[in-house]
Amino acid sequence: MSIFMSKFIITGGRPLAGEIEVKGAKNSALKILPAALLTEETVSISNLPDIEDVRRSIELLEGLGAEIKKTGHSSCDIETKNIKKFELGEKLTKKLRASIMFVAPLLARFGEVKFPHPGGCVIGAGERPIDLFIDGFAALGAEIKIDGRFYHLKAKRLKGAEYFFTMISVTGTEAMIMAACLAKGRTILKNCAMEPEISALIEYLNGCGAKIKGTGSPTITIEGVDRLSGGKFTIMPDRIETGTFAIMAAATHAPLTITKCRPEHIESLLATLQKMGISYKTGTDWLKIIPAKKFKSHNIKTHEYPGFPTDLQASFTILATQAYGVSMIHETIYDRRLLYADMLTQMGANIIMCDPHRLVVNGPTRLYGKRLTSPDLRAGIAMIIAALVAQGETEIDNIYQIDRGYENICERLKKLGADIKRVD
Ligand code: EPU
Repeated sequence: MSIFMSKFIITGGRPLAGEIEVKGAKNSALKILPAALLTEETVSISNLPDIEDVRRSIELLEGLGAEIKKTGHSSCDIETKNIKKFELGEKLTKKLRASIMFVAPLLARFGEVKFPHPGGCVIGAGERPIDLFIDGFAALGAEIKIDGRFYHLKAKRLKGAEYFFTMISVTGTEAMIMAACLAKGRTILKNCAMEPEISALIEYLNGCGAKIKGTGSPTITIEGVDRLSGGKFTIMPDRIETGTFAIMAAATHAPLTITKCRPEHIESLLATLQKMGISYKTGTDWLKIIPAKKFKSHNIKTHEYPGFPTDLQASFTILATQAYGVSMIHETIYDRRLLYADMLTQMGANIIMCDPHRLVVNGPTRLYGKRLTSPDLRAGIAMIIAALVAQGETEIDNIYQIDRGYENICERLKKLGADIKRVD
């Protein structure tokens, strides 16, 4: 039976307690892996999460001719010296939106790249657009052609330029940084996203000899260099896992300690929890949620970093179903990220969908186990939290979506006392 047919069976209401360790950040690993294409030297990466999206990225690298040597459970060495190919196949790119992160390094190193429109989570209207990437590469001097179902980009050497993002984009910012670091001359990027994963990418590239300034700010300046060296890099802890576990602890009234994390990366969530009456303690690399029997509702509006992350929005809705009062959930980044609301209503939640971007949640309500399908990665993990809160048994299928971003989640939750099993 394929992993696409796997499911989780969860019996809710079990008391959870203990410690859970945060793994390396998916959305950092998915940029550091392709960034290895920018050099001919060896790159050593550690704290890589063992998740499906990382496996797909490694397969993409191998498909191009890179040699990947596993050096431990969560570490590997990447050698890209012998790569001669600059075309990304359709099979893998359709599975992984982040395959778009391969385009800039291939274009910068080989002067040419061919790729189809990338796939991944269905959370935007229609196919998630890549117009910002195309526009940005063109601004750096790339010639763009559409060849059947493929984009074909060429530039002997990209040229530095000033570029203003008309829309703030995380991967767009990262792609332009990668493209510009081997370009001729200076690039100034304005209205950049400021997510910590972008700062991590800059730290990695500067460690390999790039000249990038303005980390953590909306204006980033890159002086192009002729070549980059290899390097070593440890993937930062996943801030979305950290936030997800914090919400899970609050929703299930569990005294959980979250370790190997960076609480400063989820300040918007922590400030919200505090306003709701949920206390916590933090150290530099741990966070302890102190459960509250009753907590108040709160409105959230998703926003670029450091605002409330869209990737925690679905999990937060589960918390809102357990809070006293009315919470408005306002999703501003994506068009199709509230589709899970229907499933929660079937579980007993009192939710009104105002429009495709806003939900009103009346709490608290008891939730009851149901048969569910994980619609996307973040809604999938939210369904797990809902199942842990609910009375009775919940079955969640299409869990490939959850495996894309959360390492071995079943065993890790079992250790906390959850009644969860995986059926393959
Ligand atoms: N957009 C465009 N044109 C583009 C690119 C983006 O219109 O060319 C729009 C998107 O449709 C969206 C908005 O811009 O409405 C912002 O999207 P952004 O580009 O910032 O998102 P992303 O870079 O594609 C990354 C994460 C997402 C996360 C968002 C927002 C990675 C691999 N993905 O996506 O993570 O939700 O930033 O923080 O870094 C996830 O992990 O589940 C996930 C979806």
